[in-house]
Amino acid sequence: MNSDIFMPSQLTWATGALAGGPLIRKTTRLADLPGIFADGEAWKCGNPQKSVYDVDVLGSPVGEGALFVGVTHLRAGNVGDEFFMTRGHFHQRREQGEVYFGLRGCGLLLLQTEAGDARLEQVTAGSVHIIPPFTAHRLINTGNETLSSLAVWPSIAGHDYAALAEGFTLRIFASGEGYEVRHG
Ligand code: F6R
Ligand code: ZN
Repeated sequence: MNSDIFMPSQLTWATGALAGGPLIRKTTRLADLPGIFADGEAWKCGNPQKSVYDVDVLGSPVGEGALFVGVTHLRAGNVGDEFFMTRGHFHQRREQGEVYFGLRGCGLLLLQTEAGDARLEQVTAGSVHIIPPFTAHRLINTGNETLSSLAVWPSIAGHDYAALAEGFTLRIFASGEGYEVRHG
């Protein structure tokens, strides 16, 4: 028996900061998101180096049954009137689900089936989102501060971005003090 006490990684719930373990950070900039926002001209006029979101993932073993833990920090901002959002994806292994937890900020989780049926869930600090199998997912920041969300998903799930080349069927635009949902 090994009686050493292992110090696990730490998550600061209020900010989404992960510490105490190997961390892999991926930054997605405006330049990395061609064709994602409705207003292509506004996208071209934006600063290509602008960081739209960071994803921090704890380095952990990969394989059947293993889980990844990561935090997405999605900045506040717009391209034209459309709010900053993640690229969005299906899992390559479509039958694999995922759980998102809202940590800070406010926004929306856009979920869409393979048949194109879409729905939205409100993301706030403390919200719990069970993403079913066969369901594409995208975060949208509708607020004025960074939206941070914790995610736990099977390491074998993989990401399929190409299947969403036509985009999601819903888009979220700034409207007055709030947002407006548009179809198509
Ligand atoms: C993992 C997952 C999240 C996203 C992250 C960035 O399966 O859903 O960690 O990968 O929110 O979004 P994408 O991958 O769509 O750029
Ligand atoms: Zn996912």
